[in-house]
Amino acid sequence: ETIEWDPEQAGKGEYDHFMLKEIHEQPTSLTQALEGRIDPENGRIALSDFEPGTFADVESVQLLACGTSYHAALYGSLALNQAGIQSTALLANEYSVSAPPIDDETLVIAVTQSGETADTLSALRQANAAGATTVTVTNVVGSTAAREADETLFIRAGPEIGVAATKTFSSQAVMLLLLGQCIAADHHGEPPADLETLLPALATMPDAIDGLLETSEADAIAEQYAHSQSYFFIGRGLGFSVALEGALKFKEITYEHAEGFASGELKHGPLALVTPDTPVFAVFTGEEDEKTLKNAEEAQTRGAPVVAVCPDDHRAVDVADEHLSIPETAPDLAGLLANVQLQLVSYHAADLLDRPIDKPRNLAKSVTVE
Ligand code: G6P
Repeated sequence: ETIEWDPEQAGKGEYDHFMLKEIHEQPTSLTQALEGRIDPENGRIALSDFEPGTFADVESVQLLACGTSYHAALYGSLALNQAGIQSTALLANEYSVSAPPIDDETLVIAVTQSGETADTLSALRQANAAGATTVTVTNVVGSTAAREADETLFIRAGPEIGVAATKTFSSQAVMLLLLGQCIAADHHGEPPADLETLLPALATMPDAIDGLLETSEADAIAEQYAHSQSYFFIGRGLGFSVALEGALKFKEITYEHAEGFASGELKHGPLALVTPDTPVFAVFTGEEDEKTLKNAEEAQTRGAPVVAVCPDDHRAVDVADEHLSIPETAPDLAGLLANVQLQLVSYHAADLLDRPIDKPRNLAKSVTVE
């Protein structure tokens, strides 16, 4: 008698899909990403290859990426701007026709999980040719993007099998936050003020995500709003990049229509689409939350159910129809916790619809053509 051995099934362990497994791996992947790189007691970040002073001459930063990596790049770019560094996240596939000027004080960061995305490689080559200093933030040692940039920062997330990126997004965002703090420290000649709150919060983030995963009610929310017409995601600041990522994940694996908007942009057009059949997921990251709440209420007035993604004691909980809870954390990290809830919503919605979650139609894990 032979025992059926399906290596793919075995790789999933107790989970039905790699995506769910990888969502649950985030406490571990983040612990690996941070290992030896942060010292909360002494308020220090240590990234090998990036000694203090490395970025002393950097005046501006361009981050290049596609897909989910672009949303991590946007997250990193907004954090850089908030730390006083001029920074832009750019779609790598647009770079050949819209690259902003580069000089020898421009740092270009390619963000790519695989390190093999053709669009991102092409943009990286263009930046190299233009004389920028380049850094690749990637998951794959020995990848083309790692080899072609001046320096590389590995996110150490471990292999990601699900086509929809999950654990690599959180690790990219966290590594970009750390890199951003180093750039800001070198640029300003002193560590950014929020380093004191960021580092201890980073150290406890794996536990925070563990707690969130244990208590999440994302499955019930997904079930409640299954079969809606469209799904909207709104947020402000760092929360805006999370709204974009929430919507991308949702459309990739459920095949349902989903869009992410800047909260304040809702009233400039998208509100025309809002009905009782378009749930709005509102991400609260402590960045002018009152305004975001008002924007969410405008959708609610038009009949849309609002799901607030925020801490339990947040004012939005009383206003919203439903609530997805995130633990209290440092301002720069709230969006990443909210994103884990949104990953779970997408996963459960896709599961209810019986979609092939790990291999969505028409999509590839790594796109090696332009
Ligand atoms: C493909 C994948 C996406 C991914 C994007 C960028 O489109 O389906 O999940 O975000 O490529 O991939 P990269 O490896 O460059 O991060």
